[in-house]
Amino acid sequence: MAAVEIGLIELHCPHRGTSLEFGLIESEGLRCCYHGWLFGCNGSILETPGEPTDSTLKEKLFHGAYPVCEHAGLVFAYMGPPDKQPPFPKLDTLTLPGYQTVPRPPSVWECNWVQVKENAMDPAHFQFLHTLPGSEGFVDDFKTKPEWDWMETPAGMVYIDTRRQDDLVWVRVADFIPPNIHQFTANDEVLMARNSISRPQATFWAVPLDDRNTMQIGYWRAPEGKRVRNDVGFGQDGSRSYDKRQRVPGDYDAQVSIHNGMARHGLEHLATTDRGIIMMRSMIRRAIRANGTGEELDSPLLRDGEIIATYSQDRVVSGIAQAGTHEADRRLIREIARNAVSETVARGFPAG
Ligand code: FES
Ligand SMILES: [Fe+2]
Repeated sequence: MAAVEIGLIELHCPHRGTSLEFGLIESEGLRCCYHGWLFGCNGSILETPGEPTDSTLKEKLFHGAYPVCEHAGLVFAYMGPPDKQPPFPKLDTLTLPGYQTVPRPPSVWECNWVQVKENAMDPAHFQFLHTLPGSEGFVDDFKTKPEWDWMETPAGMVYIDTRRQDDLVWVRVADFIPPNIHQFTANDEVLMARNSISRPQATFWAVPLDDRNTMQIGYWRAPEGKRVRNDVGFGQDGSRSYDKRQRVPGDYDAQVSIHNGMARHGLEHLATTDRGIIMMRSMIRRAIRANGTGEELDSPLLRDGEIIATYSQDRVVSGIAQAGTHEADRRLIREIARNAVSETVARGFPAG
C-alpha cells in the first residue's frame, strides 16, 4: 500500500470559502465539495475543474498549509514562522521500551489553556475532588493525605506527591514541560500493585484554540501486557448531564468553571497548596518576557535530535521505618522523595 501523505491546509476554500472539512479525500489531495477544486497536502492547487482548460488560475493562487509530523496516531502541526520551526519534541516517554501507547481521544475544554496546565501541578485536588463519593478512576490510596513538594527540572518542573503505607513510601512524580505538556502516573492502580519504579500513564498537550477554548490531546501508556486506557476519563469532558456534573464534578467541571473559563488572578487567594501554581506561573511569565525581547529560550524542546529526559514516575521505596514523631516522618518522606527526583535528574532511570 502506498504511504499516506498527511497535510494540514487552511480551512476555507480560496474559491468561495466553503469549509474543506466537507472535502473529499482523493489520492492526490483534498477536493472541495462545492465546485471541486483540488488541493495538495502542501497547499498547491492541483485542479479547478469548472475553469477553461487554458486557465492559469491554479498557478496564480496558493492555498495556506502547515508542516505536519505524525507520531503514534497523532498528527502535530507547526503554525509559526517557517524560519523558527523547532524539531519535533522527542520526549523519552514517546518511545519507552516495554510500554505501549494509544492516543487519547481529543476533547475541547471551554477555558484558558493555562488553567488546564495549572491543574497538572496541583496535586492537592486529588484528595478532595477525585475522592468525592461517586467519583471514578482514583483508587482509595489517594485518600491518604500526602506530603507535597515541587522542584524545577531540566525539562521544566515536577510535583512530588508522597505517601506512606506501613514501611512503604510511595513517591508520585508528575512533569510540567513548558509550554503546554504534562505527564502523570496511574490513578487507577493500588499501591501494592505498583512496580518499584514505573513511568507515566499519560502525556497530554493543552492546545489553545483561543483564550477561552483549549483542546486536550495526548497519549495513554501502559507496560506491555497491561490494559492501556483509551477513554477521556471520568469528568474529563462536558458530556455528562448538568445534574450529574453538579452531583459528582470532575476535573472538567472544576477547571472550566474557574471564572467562566478565564481565571482572574486578582480575585484568588493562593494558599500553601498552590506553591506549584506559583512556580509554574513564574516559569510561563519568564518565557513570555524572554520571547517578547527576542531572547532565545533555553528549552530542551528546541534542541534538535536530542531525546528529552522527563521525570514523571511512580517509585515505591520499601523498608522505611517510621521516624519518631509525625513531623520527623513528614520530613523523612519528603527527603526520600526529593532524593528520588534528584537521583533521576542526575543519573536517569535504571535500564529495563
Ligand atoms: S467553494 Fe470550493 S470549489 Fe468553490
Ligand atoms: Fe484531576
